[in-house]
Amino acid sequence: MAQQQQSVDSGAEKALLAALARTDESIPNSLAFAKENDLDHKVLSGVIRSLAASELVLAKDRSEQKFVLTKEAESYCSQGSSPEVQVFRCVQESSGGITMTGLKDKVGPQVAGVGFKQAMQAKWVSLVKPAPGPEAAAPPPPQPEDRAGKPGQKKKKEPKAEPTIVASCEAVEDACLALLLKVKASEALAPKDVQGLKKRKLVQAVKTAFFEVAKGPKFALERKQLATDLTREMILGDKPKYVDLSFKKYNFKALAPIPLGGHLHPLLKVRTQFRKVFVRMGFEEMPTNRFVESSFWNFDTLFQPQQHPARDAHDTFFLTRPTKSDHAKWPEDYLERVRKVHEDGGYGSLGYGYNWKLAEAEKNILRTHTTAVSSRMLYKLAKKYEADGNKFTPTRYFSIDRVFMNESIDRTHLAEFHQCEGLVADYDLSLAHLIGTIEAFFKNIGLHDVKFKPAYNPYTEPSMEIFVFHPGLGKWLEIGNSGIFRPEMLRPMGLPEDIKVIAWGLSLERPTMILYGVDNIRDLFGHKVDLEMMKTNPLCRIGLD
Ligand code: PHE
Repeated sequence: MAQQQQSVDSGAEKALLAALARTDESIPNSLAFAKENDLDHKVLSGVIRSLAASELVLAKDRSEQKFVLTKEAESYCSQGSSPEVQVFRCVQESSGGITMTGLKDKVGPQVAGVGFKQAMQAKWVSLVKPAPGPEAAAPPPPQPEDRAGKPGQKKKKEPKAEPTIVASCEAVEDACLALLLKVKASEALAPKDVQGLKKRKLVQAVKTAFFEVAKGPKFALERKQLATDLTREMILGDKPKYVDLSFKKYNFKALAPIPLGGHLHPLLKVRTQFRKVFVRMGFEEMPTNRFVESSFWNFDTLFQPQQHPARDAHDTFFLTRPTKSDHAKWPEDYLERVRKVHEDGGYGSLGYGYNWKLAEAEKNILRTHTTAVSSRMLYKLAKKYEADGNKFTPTRYFSIDRVFMNESIDRTHLAEFHQCEGLVADYDLSLAHLIGTIEAFFKNIGLHDVKFKPAYNPYTEPSMEIFVFHPGLGKWLEIGNSGIFRPEMLRPMGLPEDIKVIAWGLSLERPTMILYGVDNIRDLFGHKVDLEMMKTNPLCRIGLD
């Protein structure tokens, strides 16, 4: 194959160089040259480019505009006449004229439509209106039912009679076909004719590129092989070879390959914008660098009972190594208060009335929600309150990071995803504050219609699911969960009764899927993600308006 190509190339090269050697003029059109010499213009162009790089020839880029027939025009050429002539003949052949319906039957709807219009313009044919029939002149007397005013008995309309097309001259000339045949033979047309054919969409312009070629400064009938790299062998010895060698010129204009850069995943872009929204609203980011968490911080401190189904291996990933966290790391007095609130209650609560087990709390898991982080941070806040002499600093916290659930994977569920969480801690916060804050947050991320539905969480009371209206899908989507943290969670930490904490959480994937129009979560996140999507996904416009 390669050898065959080489001989085709060298044939073209020889023919071109020989032709240039015979004259001092340039070869003005490589296309014409290729045609005359029975060469493939593509091959010839390659040869010209490479000869120009070695300066054997000088090549100038040229281009010309040519007109070619459209498919429609091709069909008229093969039918042997233009549509207007086909129509004229058909009209002439049918004695007494023909209706449009009849014409369509004979020559087909396209030729009938186009041809009739052209033939009318050329005044080859004309229309004769049907003579009014007796019914048209005098409408029939109304039927007795009509007079009685019976409803639903409308008179049927007579179908309108069609006008007849008749010939207005004896013979016509097919000027259109003559022009089309000229185009086909690449003959020149008058500009007005080209305009006419273009308007009728019978020709279209195509631009063809070619070269004008002349002898170059290093013109020769045969090309010397050029060296590309200077090698050790070329410069060694008393008579180094490089002196007699010709080297290929560097092409500084050659396009270099585009270096592979990093690209941001849509989730990261949305996360950045969410982060900006939180920061703008005065929230501070919580440290979330702890994927492995103890059940204590993930569940127990959140007043989630140890028999709760979410703490089952079906829902939660348990670690095999290390299986346990050492409870010595947890403040002992706090641990005891957590045990007590689960077993006996307190702070106005009855508790769950079961035997709380330290071993259960020690089990290591992959955190199932970032609320584990919120719990740790709220405990710290309670400690600070104590250290500051019972002076509380109102706080707004947020986090956006990964969580893990032992879910079966489908279009909308993954075993690991991102959670976006916000909380506000202050004196006397109410449900109205929670609703207002969530609405403000969602407005800032571009979701203006928010609805709430009562829900249940072990750690919040009241609790509300958050729904947003998706204008694209035209429906309400559940997007998050929220609530006011229970006294059973906050009081054992040491926070006083009148400090309330409102909080909410949502997945980062859901809004990202809405924003980026992804309907299968596996196309967004995980090992099946299309890397091309990573390179081409657009900016996240949230917060940019
Ligand atoms: N932890 C909840 C979840 O995983 C979200 C939430 C956070 C709910 C804070 C209420 C308060 O969906």
